[in-house]
Amino acid sequence: MFRTLDHPLIAGELTRLREPSCPSPEFRQRLRRIASLMAPYVTEDLETQVVPCTTPLEITSGRHLIREITLVPVLRAGLAFLDGFLDMIPQASVAHIGLARNEETLLPEPYYIKHPPALHQRDVIVLDPMLATGGSAVEAVRRMKDAGARNIRFACLVAAPEGVSALETAYPEVPVFAAALDRCLNAKGYILPGLGDAGDRMFGTCP
Ligand code: PRP
Ligand code: URA
Repeated sequence: MFRTLDHPLIAGELTRLREPSCPSPEFRQRLRRIASLMAPYVTEDLETQVVPCTTPLEITSGRHLIREITLVPVLRAGLAFLDGFLDMIPQASVAHIGLARNEETLLPEPYYIKHPPALHQRDVIVLDPMLATGGSAVEAVRRMKDAGARNIRFACLVAAPEGVSALETAYPEVPVFAAALDRCLNAKGYILPGLGDAGDRMFGTCP
């Protein structure tokens, strides 16, 4: 399942964020806001159970999530995305995965992983703003599965058709959410029209 979250507020934020004149502090702020706007859609079908709820006036019923949520930002660019999701889901635990794409081979090179225990009991949301070739997303999902996760979804800002196809082929059971589906990749594996290198723009490390 691939879903584009085509929302006017998200589209407005993304339009400004794509522009090279958008500096790092503003880039991070807007990315965080988009993540917060996306979070309700990404989580809307999480399973809940009915629980008793006592108001000051009477007893009624409410709902609780059945499973705890673990957010998984792919370093580095997943971090600002994480902040927006944490604003909406502060109780979530966080697993970090460090992946750096080799700019020659375009393959992800893992350098860090740390996750909470019992991932099989959690709803896991992998976060990475950019889904380009899909190599990093496939690797991140694979690592979460190897660690025991069963209920995984993936959220990104901008997706290329090539990345969506790679992720859907590798893990058809993983729902994928994006703020925008762009046109294609260029010869260097960058998304067109895209926004450039998200990590560099976020942290002011553009060459
Ligand atoms: C970027 C991005 C994704 C990856 C997407 O990270 O944040 O993780 O590239 O490309 P792919 O779909 O072709 O794998 P990068 O490896 O540049 O690291 P960074 O976040 O530290 O800049
Ligand atoms: N990673 C990025 O940050 N941007 C792209 O366009 C592709 C991969």
